Amino acid sequence: MSQRTLVLLKPDAVRRGLMGEIIGRLEAKAGWTITALELRTLDRATLEQHYAEHEGRPFYAPLLEFMTSGPSAVMVVEGERVIEGVRALAGPTDPIQAAPGSIRGDFGTIVRENLIHASDSAESAEREMKIFFPRGA
Ligand code: TYD
Ligand code: MG
Repeated sequence: MSQRTLVLLKPDAVRRGLMGEIIGRLEAKAGWTITALELRTLDRATLEQHYAEHEGRPFYAPLLEFMTSGPSAVMVVEGERVIEGVRALAGPTDPIQAAPGSIRGDFGTIVRENLIHASDSAESAEREMKIFFPRGA
């Protein structure tokens, strides 16, 4: 079942020069294609929509501060079971809990600076693609 998902390479990934490494892993998966890709410093209003479910949590303010701290790579990736698939490549939210071999497990230590966002369901993917690509992707 072909799907589309919204992926962000967060400011830490861009700053550390890990875009090529991470994009390479996504591109290497059979049949997956990057159909939109843009380097963009995200603004607060966009991130407030994106992370609305987390408003009020203790990590929310520092998360937005971090996410506006530099450019992110904003992408749409399309392919077979790509929603579940990118989440699996990324690994769990906490990089210390993430297995070696996963993106977060290989490169992360801090929960907030966990390198990558990927939509967690078909509904989230639709919602998030509209937030980041309001004129379509
Ligand atoms: P969440 O949606 O729970 O994780 P995921 O990105 O795996 O879907 O949280 C969104 C982001 O918020 C997460 O990637 C990093 C940040 N975050 C923290 O900084 N501290 C926390 O305790 C949690 C749960 C998340
Ligand atoms: Mg999430």
